[in-house]
Amino acid sequence: MEYTELIKKRRSIRKYDLAKPVSEELVNKVLEAARLAPSACNIQPVHLVVIRDKKIKEELKEAYGREWFYTAPVIIAGCVDVDASWKRSYDNFNSAFVDLAIAFDHLLLAAANEGLGTCWICAFNPVVAAKLLRVPSNIKVVALTPLGFPAEEPAGRPRKELKEIVHREKY
Ligand SMILES: Cc1cc2nc3c(=O)[nH]c(=O)nc-3n(C[C@H](O)[C@H](O)[C@H](O)COP(=O)(O)O)c2cc1C
Repeated sequence: MEYTELIKKRRSIRKYDLAKPVSEELVNKVLEAARLAPSACNIQPVHLVVIRDKKIKEELKEAYGREWFYTAPVIIAGCVDVDASWKRSYDNFNSAFVDLAIAFDHLLLAAANEGLGTCWICAFNPVVAAKLLRVPSNIKVVALTPLGFPAEEPAGRPRKELKEIVHREKY
């Protein structure tokens, strides 16, 4: 899909076609998009956990209880190494979450380009998710997304006008 059309068409999907499996080829395509994302100092601190196993998905409901989430064909956990990521010398700002956000957005857009639905999820219990997925302590689970073919076509959510968010010359 043409890029401007793609960013207009992507939606958060909260209903998946459970009868339509997602091939490993498609999963690899969206993972590859995340791999190509830029990161501060090119450190590439992002890690992705791909979950297909029904039992593990079911267990993840303890972290985020929405049925449309834990029953989706695939779940991807976006994780980042907060020790390895770049830190700004002036104020020790850690780029880990920024790096993760860029990679995850690449992944979500690549999925939409393949006709797949996703939904960025942050309102999960990170302690439960990290324990369940056996994530080491220096790695933070920042976001989760279901991945599957959409079984809904939600209307676009409203966005602020450009004039509300753009400041010319000075804020
Ligand atoms: C950082 C972030 C966290 C989000 N967390 C959740 C979440 O926990 N649960 C959920 O259903 N949607 C979540 N969303 C999806 C937003 O609600 C959604 O992106 C927003 O309403 C705009 O809708 P759209 O994605 O369809 O354009 C999150 C989105 C972002 C970017």
